[in-house]
Amino acid sequence: MEYKTPQFFHLMQYAAAADGDVIDMVSGNPDWEPPEAIRKGLHRYADSDASEFQYPPSDGLKPLKHEIAERRAVDPDRIIITNGTGEANYLGMARGLESDRGDTCVLIDPVYPYYLGKTSMLGGQPRLVEANRDGTLDSADTCEAITDDTALVVLNTPNNPTGAVYDLEAIRAVVETAADHDALVVVDEVYDHFDLSGTFESALTLEADNVIVTSGVSKSMAITGFRVGYGIFPPALVDAAKTRHMLTNVTTSRPAQQAVYNAYRESTPAYYQAARDRLCGRIEAFTDGLDAAGAEYTTPDGGFYVLARFEGFPGTMDNVKTLIDEAGVAGMPGATFGTARAEWIRFALVTPRTAQAAERLVSYFDAR
Ligand SMILES: Cc1ncc(COP(=O)(O)O)c(C=O)c1O
Repeated sequence: MEYKTPQFFHLMQYAAAADGDVIDMVSGNPDWEPPEAIRKGLHRYADSDASEFQYPPSDGLKPLKHEIAERRAVDPDRIIITNGTGEANYLGMARGLESDRGDTCVLIDPVYPYYLGKTSMLGGQPRLVEANRDGTLDSADTCEAITDDTALVVLNTPNNPTGAVYDLEAIRAVVETAADHDALVVVDEVYDHFDLSGTFESALTLEADNVIVTSGVSKSMAITGFRVGYGIFPPALVDAAKTRHMLTNVTTSRPAQQAVYNAYRESTPAYYQAARDRLCGRIEAFTDGLDAAGAEYTTPDGGFYVLARFEGFPGTMDNVKTLIDEAGVAGMPGATFGTARAEWIRFALVTPRTAQAAERLVSYFDAR
């Protein structure tokens, strides 16, 4: 089996090796501070008894599971604390693809590249369904793509890279069709705290027994390096997922879980609101620049990415490298996200230099 290394490592290395100053809009690493309680929690943890440095329960620290259960209004027994949302996605996808339901995984194009990588790593066959032009879920086409060969559907809302927030009724239609074909649906909600539209509704509200919801705190608490996420499984699927998690990871880092628990307990909604407000300001500054550069673009309803298309300058790897070298701005080629947006470039707005990046793009495309 061939495992493909995700292309962003390649681009980040290219940008880092460039001669001039480059504004990194490739990675999804928040550039702002975590909640204060994260640092405090770590300090406190460092002074705790050595017994606190030993294995936590494999499926996660109990208080943390209970905290998340309360916030998401589910039974704590359905939750597994994972090494980021990434691992929760892996557990959910593995559960779907190891069944004898079929080996097809329906994915929405443009697609977060790790879903494609995981599908092939798990021996599945991807079936890409194009999103609507505005990035929202085309539920009619998605339902049509679900057949008896479908083991799994993976959805992501708010969406990376389109910024779309899916309508709950569109998700419901997909979940019901999947159920008719005995297929699971993994719904990745890692950007749930970055709903800028006020319309996001979790797939948990569907209370469907073929839905696995995943999320984490990498983005919401600006701690991608901590590796804390979770999966919420239907009761019938949780035990097998716990076993896979245990056999793969033993458990998840205890200091990270402890600090996240502290942050849940001690931070207020104002922390998340400030992050959303900051992003809204950046979106405005960046899209004003894109207007001035004559680009077509998506204004995100959620998450922190903007997709842009420049006339006569398709978002190929070569052109993205040209932008790094000649404009000093690093984005991601659209082809990384499937075929539907191959002409586009994705820019992550997790840099305080968003306005400067926009100015650089305007100057570059003015001069072309
Ligand atoms: C859609 C999506 N899912 C999952 C992840 C990974 O999240 P985590 O750091 O919680 O594993 C990312 C990170 O960029 C993402 O964009």
